Amino acid sequence: MPNVPVRPTTVLSVGGSVFRTGEDDVRYLGRLADLLRRIGRRRPLAVTVGGGRTAREYISIGRELGLTEIELDEVGIDVTRLHARLLAGRIGPPTPSHPPATLAQAVLELRHGSPVVLGGTEPGHTTDGVAALLAVRLRAARLVNATNVDALYDRDPKLDAKARPIRRIAWPKFREMVHEQSGGHAGEQFLFDRLAADQLARVRLPTAIVFGRDLPNLEKAMTGRPFLGTEIF
Ligand code: UTP
Repeated sequence: MPNVPVRPTTVLSVGGSVFRTGEDDVRYLGRLADLLRRIGRRRPLAVTVGGGRTAREYISIGRELGLTEIELDEVGIDVTRLHARLLAGRIGPPTPSHPPATLAQAVLELRHGSPVVLGGTEPGHTTDGVAALLAVRLRAARLVNATNVDALYDRDPKLDAKARPIRRIAWPKFREMVHEQSGGHAGEQFLFDRLAADQLARVRLPTAIVFGRDLPNLEKAMTGRPFLGTEIF
Protein backbone atom coordinates (compact mmCIF):
# COMPACT_ATOMS: atom_id res chain seq x y z
CA MET A 1 0.00 0.00 0.00
CA PRO A 2 1.40 3.46 -0.82
CA ASN A 3 2.43 5.54 2.13
CA VAL A 4 -0.30 8.20 2.07
CA PRO A 5 0.52 11.22 4.23
CA VAL A 6 -2.07 11.47 7.01
CA ARG A 7 -3.03 14.87 8.42
CA PRO A 8 -2.06 15.12 12.08
CA THR A 9 -4.79 14.30 14.57
CA THR A 10 -6.40 16.86 16.85
CA VAL A 11 -7.91 15.84 20.19
CA LEU A 12 -10.49 18.00 21.96
CA SER A 13 -11.74 17.60 25.52
CA VAL A 14 -15.05 19.37 26.13
CA GLY A 15 -15.66 19.89 29.85
CA GLY A 16 -19.08 18.95 31.20
CA SER A 17 -19.30 22.44 32.68
CA VAL A 18 -19.19 23.83 29.13
CA PHE A 19 -21.48 21.22 27.66
CA ARG A 20 -24.41 22.05 29.90
CA THR A 21 -24.62 25.36 31.72
CA GLY A 22 -28.40 25.84 31.67
CA GLU A 23 -27.92 28.84 29.35
CA ASP A 24 -28.59 28.50 25.64
CA ASP A 25 -27.33 24.91 25.70
CA VAL A 26 -29.18 23.62 22.65
CA ARG A 27 -28.02 26.49 20.43
CA TYR A 28 -24.44 26.11 21.68
CA LEU A 29 -24.41 22.34 21.17
CA GLY A 30 -25.81 22.70 17.66
CA ARG A 31 -23.07 25.16 16.72
CA LEU A 32 -20.38 23.08 18.42
CA ALA A 33 -21.53 20.04 16.43
CA ASP A 34 -21.38 22.04 13.17
CA LEU A 35 -17.84 23.20 13.98
CA LEU A 36 -16.64 19.69 14.88
CA ARG A 37 -18.19 18.21 11.74
CA ARG A 38 -16.43 20.84 9.60
CA ILE A 39 -13.01 20.48 11.28
CA GLY A 40 -13.34 16.70 11.51
CA ARG A 41 -13.81 16.40 7.76
CA ARG A 42 -10.44 18.01 7.09
CA ARG A 43 -8.34 16.22 9.73
CA PRO A 44 -8.74 13.26 12.09
CA LEU A 45 -10.50 14.58 15.19
CA ALA A 46 -11.28 12.80 18.46
CA VAL A 47 -13.53 14.53 21.01
CA THR A 48 -14.18 13.60 24.63
CA VAL A 49 -17.15 15.01 26.53
CA GLY A 50 -17.39 15.47 30.29
CA GLY A 51 -20.32 14.92 32.65
CA GLY A 52 -20.20 18.21 34.57
CA ARG A 53 -22.88 19.13 37.06
CA THR A 54 -25.17 16.29 35.95
CA ALA A 55 -22.49 13.69 36.71
CA ARG A 56 -21.77 15.28 40.09
CA GLU A 57 -25.48 15.24 41.00
CA TYR A 58 -25.81 11.53 40.28
CA ILE A 59 -22.50 10.76 41.97
CA SER A 60 -23.67 12.55 45.09
CA ILE A 61 -26.94 10.57 45.14
CA GLY A 62 -24.91 7.38 44.69
CA ARG A 63 -22.57 8.39 47.50
CA GLU A 64 -25.51 8.91 49.86
CA LEU A 65 -26.76 5.48 48.86
CA GLY A 66 -23.40 3.99 49.86
CA LEU A 67 -22.01 3.04 46.45
CA THR A 68 -18.27 2.36 46.28
CA GLU A 69 -15.86 4.87 44.65
CA ILE A 70 -15.55 2.56 41.63
CA GLU A 71 -19.33 2.37 41.25
CA LEU A 72 -19.52 6.16 41.56
CA ASP A 73 -16.91 6.57 38.83
CA GLU A 74 -19.03 4.26 36.67
CA VAL A 75 -22.09 6.44 37.30
CA GLY A 76 -19.98 9.42 36.14
CA ILE A 77 -18.84 7.51 33.05
CA ASP A 78 -22.46 6.76 32.13
CA VAL A 79 -23.31 10.48 32.23
CA THR A 80 -20.29 11.40 30.07
CA ARG A 81 -21.43 8.78 27.54
CA LEU A 82 -24.93 10.24 27.56
CA HIS A 83 -23.44 13.64 26.69
CA ALA A 84 -21.20 12.07 24.03
CA ARG A 85 -24.22 10.40 22.49
CA LEU A 86 -26.10 13.70 22.26
CA LEU A 87 -23.21 15.46 20.54
CA ALA A 88 -22.40 12.53 18.24
CA GLY A 89 -26.04 12.21 17.20
CA ARG A 90 -26.17 15.87 16.25
CA ILE A 91 -22.90 15.65 14.27
CA GLY A 92 -24.29 12.67 12.35
CA PRO A 93 -22.55 10.05 10.15
CA PRO A 94 -19.78 9.00 9.86
CA THR A 95 -19.52 9.84 13.58
CA PRO A 96 -20.69 6.71 15.41
CA SER A 97 -23.74 7.60 17.51
CA HIS A 98 -22.83 4.92 20.06
CA PRO A 99 -19.74 6.32 21.84
CA PRO A 100 -16.72 3.97 21.78
CA ALA A 101 -16.23 2.50 25.26
CA THR A 102 -12.46 2.02 25.09
CA LEU A 103 -9.42 3.84 23.73
CA ALA A 104 -8.73 0.97 21.32
CA GLN A 105 -12.26 1.20 19.94
CA ALA A 106 -11.95 4.97 19.54
CA VAL A 107 -8.67 4.59 17.61
CA LEU A 108 -10.31 1.99 15.36
CA GLU A 109 -13.38 4.16 14.72
CA LEU A 110 -11.11 7.07 13.76
CA ARG A 111 -9.75 4.97 10.91
CA HIS A 112 -13.24 4.71 9.47
CA GLY A 113 -14.33 8.30 9.87
CA SER A 114 -13.90 11.56 11.73
CA PRO A 115 -14.85 13.06 14.13
CA VAL A 116 -15.22 10.38 16.81
CA VAL A 117 -16.95 11.40 20.06
CA LEU A 118 -16.63 9.52 23.33
CA GLY A 119 -17.13 9.87 27.06
CA GLY A 120 -15.23 8.11 29.84
CA THR A 121 -13.57 4.73 29.62
CA GLU A 122 -12.67 3.26 33.02
CA PRO A 123 -12.84 4.30 36.69
CA GLY A 124 -10.05 6.39 38.16
CA HIS A 125 -9.76 9.42 35.95
CA THR A 126 -11.85 11.97 34.05
CA THR A 127 -12.55 12.59 30.38
CA ASP A 128 -9.52 14.92 30.33
CA GLY A 129 -7.53 11.78 31.14
CA VAL A 130 -9.18 9.89 28.28
CA ALA A 131 -8.39 12.78 25.91
CA ALA A 132 -4.76 12.81 27.07
CA LEU A 133 -4.30 9.05 26.62
CA LEU A 134 -5.87 9.27 23.17
CA ALA A 135 -3.70 12.24 22.19
CA VAL A 136 -0.51 10.41 23.23
CA ARG A 137 -1.63 7.18 21.58
CA LEU A 138 -2.56 8.91 18.32
CA ARG A 139 0.59 11.09 18.42
CA ALA A 140 -1.76 14.04 18.09
CA ALA A 141 -0.48 17.39 16.87
CA ARG A 142 -2.32 19.06 19.73
CA LEU A 143 -4.82 18.65 22.52
CA VAL A 144 -7.36 21.36 23.21
CA ASN A 145 -9.09 21.53 26.58
CA ALA A 146 -12.35 23.45 26.19
CA THR A 147 -13.34 24.50 29.67
CA ASN A 148 -15.39 27.07 31.62
CA VAL A 149 -12.50 29.48 32.30
CA ASP A 150 -10.74 31.57 29.67
CA ALA A 151 -7.19 30.69 30.79
CA LEU A 152 -5.06 29.17 33.52
CA TYR A 153 -4.58 31.72 36.33
CA ASP A 154 -1.74 32.15 38.82
CA ARG A 155 -4.35 31.92 41.63
CA ASP A 156 -8.11 31.37 41.85
CA PRO A 157 -9.71 34.35 40.03
CA LYS A 158 -12.98 33.78 41.91
CA LEU A 159 -11.24 34.34 45.25
CA ASP A 160 -8.59 36.88 44.33
CA ALA A 161 -9.14 39.93 42.08
CA LYS A 162 -5.37 40.18 41.54
CA ALA A 163 -5.24 36.79 39.77
CA ARG A 164 -3.42 37.02 36.42
CA PRO A 165 -3.81 34.71 33.41
CA ILE A 166 -0.79 32.59 32.49
CA ARG A 167 -0.51 32.65 28.69
CA ARG A 168 2.35 30.15 28.29
CA ILE A 169 3.66 27.51 30.67
CA ALA A 170 6.07 24.59 30.29
CA TRP A 171 4.78 21.07 30.95
CA PRO A 172 6.96 20.26 34.01
CA LYS A 173 5.74 23.39 35.83
CA PHE A 174 2.10 22.82 34.85
CA ARG A 175 2.27 19.19 35.98
CA GLU A 176 3.50 20.36 39.38
CA MET A 177 0.52 22.73 39.68
CA VAL A 178 -1.94 19.94 38.87
CA HIS A 179 -0.41 17.61 41.46
CA GLU A 180 -0.57 20.30 44.14
CA GLN A 181 -4.25 20.94 43.50
CA SER A 182 -5.93 17.61 42.78
CA GLY A 183 -7.49 15.06 45.09
CA GLY A 184 -8.83 12.00 43.27
CA HIS A 185 -12.41 11.13 44.27
CA ALA A 186 -15.36 10.49 41.95
CA GLY A 187 -16.91 13.67 40.58
CA GLU A 188 -14.09 15.84 41.85
CA GLN A 189 -13.23 18.89 39.76
CA PHE A 190 -9.59 19.23 38.87
CA LEU A 191 -7.78 22.10 37.29
CA PHE A 192 -6.73 19.29 34.94
CA ASP A 193 -6.74 15.54 35.47
CA ARG A 194 -3.57 14.17 37.15
CA LEU A 195 -3.36 11.23 34.77
CA ALA A 196 -3.77 13.62 31.86
CA ALA A 197 -1.01 15.92 33.11
CA ASP A 198 1.39 13.01 33.71
CA GLN A 199 0.85 11.48 30.27
CA LEU A 200 1.02 14.75 28.38
CA ALA A 201 4.04 16.04 30.29
CA ARG A 202 6.00 12.91 29.36
CA VAL A 203 5.83 13.74 25.67
CA ARG A 204 5.31 17.50 26.14
CA LEU A 205 2.27 17.36 23.90
CA PRO A 206 1.25 20.88 22.79
CA THR A 207 -1.93 21.65 24.74
CA ALA A 208 -4.30 24.60 24.77
CA ILE A 209 -6.72 25.67 27.49
CA VAL A 210 -9.57 27.78 26.12
CA PHE A 211 -13.05 28.93 27.08
CA GLY A 212 -15.25 26.36 25.33
CA ARG A 213 -18.24 28.59 24.67
CA ASP A 214 -16.24 30.97 22.44
CA LEU A 215 -16.42 28.92 19.25
CA PRO A 216 -14.34 31.16 16.92
CA ASN A 217 -11.51 31.09 19.47
CA LEU A 218 -11.94 27.33 19.98
CA GLU A 219 -11.60 26.84 16.22
CA LYS A 220 -8.37 28.86 16.19
CA ALA A 221 -6.90 26.70 18.97
CA MET A 222 -7.99 23.49 17.22
CA THR A 223 -6.51 24.47 13.87
CA GLY A 224 -3.15 25.68 15.17
CA ARG A 225 -3.74 29.43 14.79
CA PRO A 226 -3.04 32.05 17.50
CA PHE A 227 -5.79 31.90 20.14
CA LEU A 228 -6.68 33.47 23.46
CA GLY A 229 -6.13 31.16 26.41
CA THR A 230 -3.17 29.23 27.81
CA GLU A 231 -0.59 27.32 25.83
CA ILE A 232 1.23 24.42 27.56
CA PHE A 233 4.40 23.37 25.78
P1 UTP B 1 -15.73 14.30 33.91
O1 UTP B 1 -14.75 14.01 32.86
O2 UTP B 1 -16.92 15.09 33.57
O3 UTP B 1 -14.94 14.95 35.15
O4 UTP B 1 -16.21 12.92 34.54
P2 UTP B 1 -15.10 16.37 35.85
O5 UTP B 1 -13.90 16.55 36.71
O6 UTP B 1 -16.44 16.44 36.51
O7 UTP B 1 -14.93 17.41 34.67
P3 UTP B 1 -15.98 18.46 34.04
O8 UTP B 1 -16.54 19.29 35.16
O9 UTP B 1 -17.01 17.68 33.32
O10 UTP B 1 -15.11 19.24 33.11
C1 UTP B 1 -17.15 12.87 35.59
C2 UTP B 1 -16.81 11.77 36.55
O11 UTP B 1 -16.94 10.49 35.90
C3 UTP B 1 -15.92 9.59 36.33
C4 UTP B 1 -15.12 10.34 37.42
O12 UTP B 1 -15.73 10.07 38.68
C5 UTP B 1 -15.35 11.80 37.04
O13 UTP B 1 -15.16 12.67 38.14
N1 UTP B 1 -15.08 9.15 35.17
C6 UTP B 1 -15.11 9.84 34.00
C7 UTP B 1 -14.28 8.02 35.28
O14 UTP B 1 -14.21 7.39 36.33
N2 UTP B 1 -13.54 7.61 34.18
C8 UTP B 1 -13.57 8.27 33.00
O15 UTP B 1 -12.88 7.84 32.03
C9 UTP B 1 -14.35 9.43 32.92
